[in-house]
Amino acid sequence: MDGAVRSGETVRRAPGPWTPTIQRLLRHLHAQGVRTTPRPLGTDEQGRDVTEYVPGEVPTYPMPSWVFSDEVLAESVALLRSVHDASVSFDRAESVWRLEPREPAEVVCHNDAAPYNMVFRDRRLVALIDWDTAAPGPRSWDLAYLAYRLVPLGPAAADSGPVPDRERRRRLELLCRAYGDIGPADLLGTVVERLTELARFTRARADGDAELLRHVDLYLRDADWVVEHAPGLVD
Ligand SMILES: Nc1ncnc2c1ncn2[C@@H]1O[C@H](COP(=O)(O)OP(=O)(O)OP(=O)(O)O)[C@@H](O)[C@H]1O
Ligand SMILES: [Mg+2]
Repeated sequence: MDGAVRSGETVRRAPGPWTPTIQRLLRHLHAQGVRTTPRPLGTDEQGRDVTEYVPGEVPTYPMPSWVFSDEVLAESVALLRSVHDASVSFDRAESVWRLEPREPAEVVCHNDAAPYNMVFRDRRLVALIDWDTAAPGPRSWDLAYLAYRLVPLGPAAADSGPVPDRERRRRLELLCRAYGDIGPADLLGTVVERLTELARFTRARADGDAELLRHVDLYLRDADWVVEHAPGLVD
């Protein structure tokens, strides 16, 4: 979105008012022992935000089928849980976020936790990247989006061939169990809320852009799909 460019072992992008907060967050996560987020490296001579380049593969659509393995699901959830837990002690005083914080702000959410923002090596997850839209929010807000993209939920999941509801139910359960403290029925409710909010947010910024408006329609269609299929996705 903001034209991140690689320069050697670093990634550089135009800064925003949120950049110092995100750099401080990434530093905090590292200080807490998290090793699955890029290291922040300050600002370069052109004033650009600099972070560590994490070598590996970032999958894109159409997603390769291995992205939907149970191992990747388990690793993604474990990563998200560890980042959330480590973010609890982040000092939010004087923070500036690109997105509005959302209540209950239990943790700092990544807000775009999905395979297209993950780096893999040998099909093992090594990092979650693209932290610019992180902001305080409920744990389930982030987990819901990960479930949407990775279970996956919605008819567009035909990327990896048609997926029967019972397989999605199994993976949704696996995801909830791996994270802990949240059940599939509650999470599906949050997925619908999350997609509805994403549609609203995207529409407000689309400014007539046909591609963005197409995304708005997809989010709303997928939210309807989740409502319709919910009975078959929970016990
Ligand atoms: N720290 C990093 N390490 C390795 N690759 C990175 C890193 N940051 C960004 N990239 C690569 O650059 C791409 C774009 O970066 P990023 O996802 O941060 O920006 P974006 O504005 O959200 O772009 P997009 O909308 O395509 O996700 C990523 O999909 C990834 O391939
Ligand atoms: Mg990205």
